[in-house]
Amino acid sequence: MERDLSREEFQRYHDLIYKIAGIHYPAEKLELLSNRIKKRLRATGTPTYDSYLARLQQPTEAAETQAFLDSITTNETYFFRCQRHWDFFRQAVEQRQADPARRKEPLRLWSAAASTGAEAFTMLIVLQQALGAAFASTPIEVLGTDLSTQVLEEAKRGAYRAYALAQTAPELVKKYFTKNDKDEFVFDRTLARLVTFQRHNLMEPLPGNRRFDFVFLRNVMIYFDGPSRERVLKNAFDVLLPGGHLVVGESESLLSVKHGFQYVKPSVFVKPTGAPAAPKPSRT
Ligand SMILES: C[S@@+](CC[C@H](N)C(=O)[O-])C[C@H]1O[C@@H](n2cnc3c(N)ncnc32)[C@H](O)[C@@H]1O
Repeated sequence: MERDLSREEFQRYHDLIYKIAGIHYPAEKLELLSNRIKKRLRATGTPTYDSYLARLQQPTEAAETQAFLDSITTNETYFFRCQRHWDFFRQAVEQRQADPARRKEPLRLWSAAASTGAEAFTMLIVLQQALGAAFASTPIEVLGTDLSTQVLEEAKRGAYRAYALAQTAPELVKKYFTKNDKDEFVFDRTLARLVTFQRHNLMEPLPGNRRFDFVFLRNVMIYFDGPSRERVLKNAFDVLLPGGHLVVGESESLLSVKHGFQYVKPSVFVKPTGAPAAPKPSRT
């Protein structure tokens, strides 16, 4: 298929992507979406946009639907993205450590649009800096989730091109990474075991009873419209412990969206301590 999607085809794909992932492709991204779908048409030998769309709607095509989702998501990430967020995180953990009542509690963190894992692994580096010797004795659990299984496979491998480390101090690169024979930087395997990576669609409540002290939900809401943002924020709110913090991307405003968080500082929100720890899941 050489040509781009027609307006009508674009709308049909838009609606499917929105229904599954909450992602809103604006009309000006028609060419980008066309190019991404063309790759799947070539890979699967499907002749037309409509026949591929019909395929995606069949329950037997779960694997191709996942490959499609992998291809239409934008997965850019790197270590120490937005230093301001990491300064906040480090200070918040240091304050917690200064409180004898809280210092022994486990630290539970969620990288909620984890991509290839740079955010989850940055959490560990900063935790080690903030906790010092107490790092080894503090129970730490990090969950990294994403809609794309392709990026999660890369996250599990934990090997990065130099680009992903451009914002990382050289002494930290030296301390936490080793170079492999493909010229990739492999994140410390022992530390990496503290992170569990699993597929999760942010449009759904997180399954299980996990609760978190920090949720990083960065650089994913830019792809959502108002109703999708509300949905993902509600899902994040429900799994945060009262007093737990939410960190969003620098360009992601919560201003026009309904949510239960209190503003702390740009990009940082807290779940009020009076809020119930685990409200019943929303029916909407
Ligand atoms: C641009 S990356 C952000 C990575 C990281 N949080 C950061 O700030 O560097 C956005 C990620 O969100 C994921 N994503 C998009 N829609 C999603 C959804 N509905 N549920 C879960 N993840 C989603 C994409 O697959 C992609 O890996």
